[in-house]
Amino acid sequence: MLKTLIVSNRLPLQLNIENGKVSSSPSVGGLATGLKSVHKESNGIWIGWNGLIQEDVDSQLESAVEKAVQEQQCASVALSQEDLDGFYYGFSNHTIWPMFHYFMEYAKFSNKYWESYKRVNEKFAQVVLENLEEGDTVWVHDYQLMLLPQLIKEERPDVSVGFFLHIPFPSFEVFRTIPWREQILNGLLGADLIGFHTYDYERHFLSSVSRILGYATSFNSITLADRVVTVDSFPMGIDYEKFSSFSKANQQQTDITQSELQRRLYHHQEETPEAKMILSIDRLDYTKGIANRIKAYERFLEKYPDYIEKVRLVMLAVPSRSNVKQYKRLKKEIDELVGRINGKFATVSWTPIWYFYRSMPFTNLIDLYTSCEVALITPIRDGMNLVAKEYIACRTDRTGVLILSEMAGAAKEMNEALLINPNDLELIADTIKKAIEMPVIEQKKRNKYMQSRLKRYNVEKWAEDFMNKLKSVKRNEELVKTK
Ligand code: ADP
Ligand code: G6P
Repeated sequence: MLKTLIVSNRLPLQLNIENGKVSSSPSVGGLATGLKSVHKESNGIWIGWNGLIQEDVDSQLESAVEKAVQEQQCASVALSQEDLDGFYYGFSNHTIWPMFHYFMEYAKFSNKYWESYKRVNEKFAQVVLENLEEGDTVWVHDYQLMLLPQLIKEERPDVSVGFFLHIPFPSFEVFRTIPWREQILNGLLGADLIGFHTYDYERHFLSSVSRILGYATSFNSITLADRVVTVDSFPMGIDYEKFSSFSKANQQQTDITQSELQRRLYHHQEETPEAKMILSIDRLDYTKGIANRIKAYERFLEKYPDYIEKVRLVMLAVPSRSNVKQYKRLKKEIDELVGRINGKFATVSWTPIWYFYRSMPFTNLIDLYTSCEVALITPIRDGMNLVAKEYIACRTDRTGVLILSEMAGAAKEMNEALLINPNDLELIADTIKKAIEMPVIEQKKRNKYMQSRLKRYNVEKWAEDFMNKLKSVKRNEELVKTK
């Protein structure tokens, strides 16, 4: 049977070894959570890293690891500590991630990182080629694997290869400063179809290809010497039904079946019914604008003191990439900011910020989405931002206000949210007030439009559109060949 191979650096499962036993937990991040439902529906296989360091898996554990991965229709690419340092923490997250999010001053250009990136992309290629059968399709994901399409195409020109970038593609003026810019573009051009979340990212990519490599480009195609590559935008959606049905079930919980977190959240509402909760959820990443968000909340409390004891910022930050210097520094900065603001404003019966630095089970995420009246999402740059979409999907009674940064890809489809510039702290402070005071009728009107769009263009539709386009590109190519 023909199958689709999904390939991404991170698998949807994260394995851990504790007391000689292998356990598995779901991965966090838009790519893993979004593609999970697509993968479940297909008969394909998902190839990627399982979260373990190769040196930690001794021969006794190998079969348990293999079993845990296979159970979820996945296959592992083993990464050593050296691979993780050079490829993952290094080139992927200390060079490409900051560059593509316009944090140029955070980027490190190192030949050692680059060599490791090449080596690991080759490792991935090897596993893909081992699993590939005639007629299969390969769908490669994200910035960690930008050389993979070319590596596959060189070995198997017959195979249809798609690539999707989950983060922004920066403007030519930024991209051109990367020492390995030609190799990266050539790597991507091994794909038959390259997808981006928004038309702007696509435009930036086309401009880099024509100015750096000199290929002729049109609105959405690139003509190479021997074939044509198609480029298009596909804004990623969410599993809308899953979020809305979990949210409905969540609201039907009784006192006994409620989770501890849910009880605490509802208790807070009972104690002070007029008080509002503002939600903030992200991986702890400097692109997410968490520090600005906290400072804007502080400004809000200073400017509108009547709201003291009547609001609370519920902040969940999920640990991420903590071996990279800038992430360590950010953790310290956030800890200090939260401490300072709680110290400055807290009263005997009230803490302005509830801060959780950990991952939480899915049901707790739903507790947060359903119980907070406002979601404050302020990334400085974000390819898409699925949290914004998940929040709206969970507001099944249509109340709730989304404050969203213009710099998130999601803002392009969520015009009815209160859109803000994440660097404008005064504006964010005033928008928090506006959100809290927004009449219910207006909340419902705004959310109705966003919900119907998110429901229609869900993650399945996103994947289906991408795969259909890839098929049509392949058909056209075959037609040209037979002419
Ligand atoms: P990014 O991909 O940069 O992390 P997104 O907002 O696009 O940002 O995606 C984050 C994803 O991670 C969402 O689908 C969200 O549900 C999920 N997520 C966030 N926090 C947690 C958590 N604590 N546990 C499980 N999943 C989480
Ligand atoms: C973003 C990236 C993904 C990545 C995720 C989590 O969503 O686009 O490729 O998997 O963040 O980051 P991590 O480094 O933990 O895989």
